[in-house]
Amino acid sequence: MRFDGKTALVTGGASPIGQAVARRLAAGGANLALADINSEALEAVGAAISPDALLSVGDLSDEAVANDFVQSAIKRFGQVDILVNNAGGGVIEWTPDHTATTIRQTIDRNLWTTIWTTRAALPSMVENDYGRIVNIGADSVRNGLFMHAIYNAAKGGVHAIASGLAREYARYDITVNVVAPCMVLTPQVIAAKKAGLPIVAEMEAVIPKGRSADPDEVASMVSYLCLDEARFVTGQVISVNGGSTMQ
Ligand SMILES: NC(=O)c1ccc[n+]([C@@H]2O[C@H](COP(=O)([O-])OP(=O)(O)OC[C@H]3O[C@@H](n4cnc5c(N)ncnc54)[C@H](O)[C@@H]3O)[C@@H](O)[C@H]2O)c1
Repeated sequence: MRFDGKTALVTGGASPIGQAVARRLAAGGANLALADINSEALEAVGAAISPDALLSVGDLSDEAVANDFVQSAIKRFGQVDILVNNAGGGVIEWTPDHTATTIRQTIDRNLWTTIWTTRAALPSMVENDYGRIVNIGADSVRNGLFMHAIYNAAKGGVHAIASGLAREYARYDITVNVVAPCMVLTPQVIAAKKAGLPIVAEMEAVIPKGRSADPDEVASMVSYLCLDEARFVTGQVISVNGGSTMQ
């Protein structure tokens, strides 16, 4: 039970990757606090993974909602040890086809959720001289994938805040890293494949392994970075991408 006694917060807990991460952390003995804007899906994940999980519904791009999530977790479990900033999701579109609304949505979902939740969680980590923060970024930031410029503007910030924070908090046993997946085989991608949409094949064509990642392949790297023994890995962007960028 490698996360015994630890309290882990996962944002976007209702998503396929969030769920896979939560499952691994719970299997390792962590107390779980999951947040998402989608209440129905979050309840289903909570029921499937851990009846003791704290479930928090709200828009984490609102500072007050993010604070409330973190404070509820501290009230229930006493502290925050692990934070996985997984809330996000892109509006994947060619740049001229975006609207002001879809651009704001993309930045809100990915970057503002990360900024507010992290700021809320750090004081508890500093107090306990312990923290593992993992942001879910995107390999498209590195390979400039088509239709991803706006998404990359948001995820680029998610990558960048990790290096800055890693340095700011290096004097504590607090690490801050990014796991950057290529396309992941979520139900949405499976449905698009079944519908014969060419974008899936086009996006898989840039992956040398020739397929999308499984959510648990991403969760496996996240859970490693959340371990005590990963204490010397900080400020890194680690791709789980089937080779779609290398080095
Ligand atoms: N699926 C992929 O191919 C892929 C590739 C690279 C990165 N990612 C990233 O992985 C993460 C998980 O994605 P996924 O594919 O498992 O499913 P997803 O994109 O549906 O996950 C996003 C989750 O975040 C939640 N969310 C969005 N905005 C929120 C907000 N303002 N407040 C609270 N919750 C909010 C959504 O309800 C959803 O459950 C996301 O950050 C996504 O950008 C996914």
